[in-house]
Amino acid sequence: MATTPADDHSMALGIDIGGTGIKGAPVDLRTGELAAPRHYLATPRPATPDAVAAAVRELRDHFADVPATTPVGVTVPAVVRRGVVRTAANIDPVWIGTHGVNLFTDALGVPVTLLNDADAAGLAEIALGAGRDAEGVVLVVTLGTGIGSALFVDGRLVPNTELGHLTIDGVDCCPWASAAARVQENLSWAQWVSRLQDYLAYAESLLWPDLVIIGGGISADADQFLPLLQLEAPVVRARMGNDSGIIGAAFEAHAAVVRA
Ligand code: BGC
Repeated sequence: MATTPADDHSMALGIDIGGTGIKGAPVDLRTGELAAPRHYLATPRPATPDAVAAAVRELRDHFADVPATTPVGVTVPAVVRRGVVRTAANIDPVWIGTHGVNLFTDALGVPVTLLNDADAAGLAEIALGAGRDAEGVVLVVTLGTGIGSALFVDGRLVPNTELGHLTIDGVDCCPWASAAARVQENLSWAQWVSRLQDYLAYAESLLWPDLVIIGGGISADADQFLPLLQLEAPVVRARMGNDSGIIGAAFEAHAAVVRA
């Protein structure tokens, strides 16, 4: 570990919960870099709140050098309002109505900040990545198992937009145009890009963003699809990579401490 300052608010722990894995790391808030290699655990099956809370505890314990008072931010692939998980598109439905903040705060013994995974990734992009200094309306779209969205207006997040679930001709775009759909349905890049184009054009017609940032694991293959997209707004690849959720969660945890 590079540094573990005792109590100077320069570090927060970010934990990103996904359908297959839970990953986390302490983040240096001055640079947005991980202060220690990230740790990964498989998401428990079934991914009930108690089982996931135990895994998050195990992940926290892995970073024994990180001071106990270090703020913790946790993401979930779901809507989070006032600490309560409200949807469960890609997670166990038993999460709906769970007070996630209380669950994780009890599990870790420190106040936890909980937010949507795409919102966290977007916060990292806006702070340090492709959305840095961007003005106006910025739409961050994460393409993975599902489609996540994070909407910013002059750098401020409008949380829980869930634009991945826009419907076209009655079809939920989330499973239809996600990165997973390309693999599961064995689509060519051209076939998949055609879906993505329809999806993004529809989102653009509703929001008229000034900038669109595409994140998620597939952004590593941006050359295969970004040049084919035709939108009014510039479309760029996310820059923060796979750790954007961890970094955004850590930033948000720190921001919550500052606001308190
Ligand atoms: C969920 C979103 C999430 C996205 C990416 C969607 O199915 O509804 O909350 O951000 O997947 O994980």
